[in-house]
Amino acid sequence: IGREIYCFDEVDSTNIIAKELAEDDASEGTVVIAKTQTRGRGRRGKKWISPRGGIWMSIILRPEIPPAKAPHLTLVTGVAVAKTLKREFGLDVGIKWPNDILIGDKKVCGILTEAHARFNTIEYIVVGIGIDTNVDVDLFPEEFREGATSLKRELGVDVDSVDLIRKLLVEFEKVYEDFKRGRFPEILNEWRRFSKTIGSYVEIRKQLGEIVRGEAVGVNSEGALILELDNGKLRKIVSGECIHLGR
Ligand code: BTN
Repeated sequence: IGREIYCFDEVDSTNIIAKELAEDDASEGTVVIAKTQTRGRGRRGKKWISPRGGIWMSIILRPEIPPAKAPHLTLVTGVAVAKTLKREFGLDVGIKWPNDILIGDKKVCGILTEAHARFNTIEYIVVGIGIDTNVDVDLFPEEFREGATSLKRELGVDVDSVDLIRKLLVEFEKVYEDFKRGRFPEILNEWRRFSKTIGSYVEIRKQLGEIVRGEAVGVNSEGALILELDNGKLRKIVSGECIHLGR
């Protein structure tokens, strides 16, 4: 990972650049980093605010896995980021299902995994990581400001972004190699230890506007969230936006 790194001052989105490079046969582990993005993308078609001072990067992967397992990479990446932030800064780092990295109850990092498959095989996966390192979230538009924080705000000092990127890539490589060796169950256990969702009462907003509420009681071997609904029934949630309502 990171044997080849492309650095840009400004791009539309590092995920888009990575996709173009991957289509041009860029090798596994190629990394794209930009100082700022004009069209940063978040999950569910949302915009991602990407001012200078943050870490905006994408990694090209070519794992030999069935497309159905591509979402595992999101959890793999979450564990790598959470472990790195915890180790480097000792903050109260947690993960909100499926892939928001939190400090306390505020989001500091988002992960956008985009898989490109053909004939039911993965050609490549782009994992996009956005970390609010030295950014001032107070300057974010209101709808993005709420619930967000930055490392600088939490620590009170600037973070060395280049050093953090280096450490992140080293950790990512370790967790990713474990994943390729079939150790996803162990990685999931680490994910569970970071989870701030398990044990919380949550609201899940599904793609078609459906809303499900219940207590998050765990994640299954696929990384799907298991909810205990108010009527006591269990429901498996594969995707959706998760809002923590309380403990
Ligand atoms: C989320 O909605 O939480 C995911 C945000 C992912 C943002 C990162 S920044 C680098 C990469 N390029 C993008 O356009 N998005 C991802």
